[in-house]
Amino acid sequence: MEEKGPRPRLYRQLNQYCGSDVYPFHMPGHKRQTSAEFLAEFPNPYGIDITEIDGFDNLHHAEGLLKESMDWAASVYGAGRTCYLVNGSTCGVLAAVCAAVPRGGTILMDRGSHKSAYHAAALNGLNIQYVYPQILEDFGLRGGLLPQDIEKMLINAKKSPVQAAFITSPTYDGVVSDVGGIAEICRRHGVPLIVDEAHGAHFPFGDRFPASALACGADIVIQSLHKTLPAFTQSALLHVGAGSERIDTGRLEYFLQVFQSSSPSYVLMAGIERCIEYMAAGGRGEMDRFADRAAQLRAGLRKMRHLRLLDRDVIGRAGVYDLDISKIVVSAGGAAGLTGPELAELLRRDHHLEMEMCGADYVTAITTLMDSREGLARLEKALLEIDAKLEGSDVPAPAGSGSADHFPRAVLPIHEALARPARMVPLESAAGRISGEYVCLYPPGTPIVVPGEILTEETVGAIRAYRERRLPIQGMRDHTASAIGVLM
Ligand SMILES: Cc1ncc(COP(=O)(O)O)c(C=O)c1O
Repeated sequence: MEEKGPRPRLYRQLNQYCGSDVYPFHMPGHKRQTSAEFLAEFPNPYGIDITEIDGFDNLHHAEGLLKESMDWAASVYGAGRTCYLVNGSTCGVLAAVCAAVPRGGTILMDRGSHKSAYHAAALNGLNIQYVYPQILEDFGLRGGLLPQDIEKMLINAKKSPVQAAFITSPTYDGVVSDVGGIAEICRRHGVPLIVDEAHGAHFPFGDRFPASALACGADIVIQSLHKTLPAFTQSALLHVGAGSERIDTGRLEYFLQVFQSSSPSYVLMAGIERCIEYMAAGGRGEMDRFADRAAQLRAGLRKMRHLRLLDRDVIGRAGVYDLDISKIVVSAGGAAGLTGPELAELLRRDHHLEMEMCGADYVTAITTLMDSREGLARLEKALLEIDAKLEGSDVPAPAGSGSADHFPRAVLPIHEALARPARMVPLESAAGRISGEYVCLYPPGTPIVVPGEILTEETVGAIRAYRERRLPIQGMRDHTASAIGVLM
């Protein structure tokens, strides 16, 4: 057949981007440092890409090489069990929730969860009791979860008991909740605690980073290696806490088979093993040096007068128990008058720096131990230059932290809402209706609206504002976000 016009070539475009001088403040955590000793030692992926042939075990029935590798990984982490994941934290979250809560059961869930947790709840027909994160009003960001909120809910759940609690810590922006406190409460109430630590895979390897959820006593911990450590995209881990009796590992294994590819990539699994091997050895020392580099960058960014760095002074308010210094969140809101997308565009266009994401008023840069001093210096210089050109008053004083009345109210479980007929209405006239679909900003992937929630004027206004700022809205059938599916 005759070809019409030039065909897009993904690999060519990738080559072009990866060969350019654009510096990646985004995932994956290896930052494509192919000449670094650690990455240079890894074989060419094509050269080791096999399938389940004799002698190489099978991830879905591991009893040889892969079992030994995962047992060794568990010993590195001090976990009862560690499972390699080749479909990202997404499949770990799906499997953990489905394994921990029986069909039709009830889960206590962080309303700030990644969409995979909602999908798990919908697939398993779960009822959700939401615990709402605090809000860092001055950054327009989610704060932490308060242990006392979870305790109150578990006490009140006596009549309809919850079978598991699911929280996210750290958030996409590096905000850490009091996981130890929450784990202790869950243990007292006999409820298994699942922690989505997708953004905290580096925590176990650095003393200057927050404590890992595994060390804090969680029953299941899910980590994306690819986000903050040198590992291929999609590689992740699921740990079961040592001595955790509350998890049925047979059910967990079953659901990992359901949600993972039946052809798990040996390249990804070898990458996972190599990443852990490195982190357990030289990586620990590198994390200390990286902490110095990150601290230096943060010290430089404190000189900004209009833009504002999310910094450790937020600890202690809005449920923030600790902050990951590797996430560089810079607010462009307030006096500076810039939007997040505008700041991201200035960084891209004038400084050739690509951010991980931007929110309405802020940008987030992911930095990892693979970032060079020069790379971090470029980010510092760029932000200080942009800041110097901004006019207006100095950074406003931080506003108080509010409670989380910012989320729409759920009136139907997700699976019921998804099963009902819906019709499309203009977004502008949707307030007061029950949503039949998700609305997410991706990243970070936390639904703004979940099926079964009542759309408020505030929510509709927020979606409209995101649309106008060209933020990446996902989940809506209408990709232009002009209309939304509501229940009839
Ligand atoms: C908090 C959180 N959990 C889970 C995930 C899913 O992780 P993965 O992309 O490794 O599937 C993400 C992805 O961004 C996330 O931000």
